Amino acid sequence: MTASSALPYQRLHVELDARRYPIHVGPGLLDDPDMLVPYLAGQQVMIVTSETVAPLYLERLKHALSGDGRDVREIVLPDGEHTKTLASVERIWDALLAAGFNRRCTLVALGGGVIGDMAGFAAACYQRGVAFVQVPTTLLSQVDSSVGGKTGVNHPRGKNMLGAFWQPRAVVIDTRTLTTLPARELSAGLAEVIKYGLIQDVDFIAWLEARMSALRALDADALTDAILRSCAIKAEIVAADETEQGQRALLNLGHTFGHAIESHQGYGNWLHGEAVGAGMLMAAALSQRLGWLEPDEVLRVEALIAHAGLPVTAPASMSGDDFLSIMRLDKKNIDARLRLVLLSRLGDACIHDATPSDMLDALLTDFPRR
Ligand code: NAD
Ligand code: GLY
Repeated sequence: MTASSALPYQRLHVELDARRYPIHVGPGLLDDPDMLVPYLAGQQVMIVTSETVAPLYLERLKHALSGDGRDVREIVLPDGEHTKTLASVERIWDALLAAGFNRRCTLVALGGGVIGDMAGFAAACYQRGVAFVQVPTTLLSQVDSSVGGKTGVNHPRGKNMLGAFWQPRAVVIDTRTLTTLPARELSAGLAEVIKYGLIQDVDFIAWLEARMSALRALDADALTDAILRSCAIKAEIVAADETEQGQRALLNLGHTFGHAIESHQGYGNWLHGEAVGAGMLMAAALSQRLGWLEPDEVLRVEALIAHAGLPVTAPASMSGDDFLSIMRLDKKNIDARLRLVLLSRLGDACIHDATPSDMLDALLTDFPRR
């Protein structure tokens, strides 16, 4: 991972040998052909976006991508986590086939993590794999989902159960797109930002404690710094463990609990980041029960999550058994063993598969509900 500072924008790289790719971060990049055109495989371009994002940014992106005789089309999908299905991806494939696009086409994902995950999966499968570029427009997608090549869709029985690892050719983050993002979605993105501090960077936790109000007030410098630090941590982890054979699983802190909340509550009722926020606090509370965190450290985690505008309780309608039955389907599990990402201390995480079942049951029963 490398960073540049002499440019009017910031740039990092995900170091994956021949598949190395840049993450460009800066204001107004959506309009800059130099940020986008070099990463196209050929003349055929399909922008995949959503009904909310299209009116805001589609024409500008199209303008930046057009020229030199390129055939730039778009498919606009309905919004929301409940649309992250195989049926939506089929619509992307239908659009590509109807346009007569071949293996030299490029998909450009313009939107949040739902669009990015689906467009990436469509690209991974279309004619056995075509190029794609991520243009993420939510904080969550800018700091997490657009980087690292996890693509896919949900199944009614489990979150992200169908998918592929398929890396983009570039990630182009226009930080100005965050100005139109609803506050609730910004908070959801902050959950993944907090995650990086908790798993890897105790100094970043302190930085976030000091800057949380500025971040929520859309301070451009604070947001850019948070995005860069988050992407740097993610790029380093992905470069070391692309297909999650080991340390990449640490990026799932709070996700096993969080995915259970999302699945149980119905996709979209709790935002992914909200469920991860509550889930990270559950992981911290379990880490305390294991003797790894002090009570005041868990309170510090709780205060940071609350300050980000995220829930610090689980849904009242979810029993401990509800959690367990969904958590047993988690992709990290090996055979029947439940594997959880927990905090060995603040700023350091581990994968743990030996939590005594009575301890986990007690946590799931006692954790506050609302
Ligand atoms: P999302 O894609 O549903 O976007 C949230 C909402 O914001 C949508 O309604 C969207 O249309 C709208 N929106 C997007 N950009 C906007 C903008 N600039 N202004 C106004 N509105 C805008 O949600 P998300 O939080 O971006 O992503 C969540 C998804 O990401 C989940 O499906 C999750 O599983 C996935 N995810 C994937 C990875 C990965 O590594 N692939 C990592 C984390 C999360
Ligand atoms: N969001 C988890 C990962 O990319 O591995």
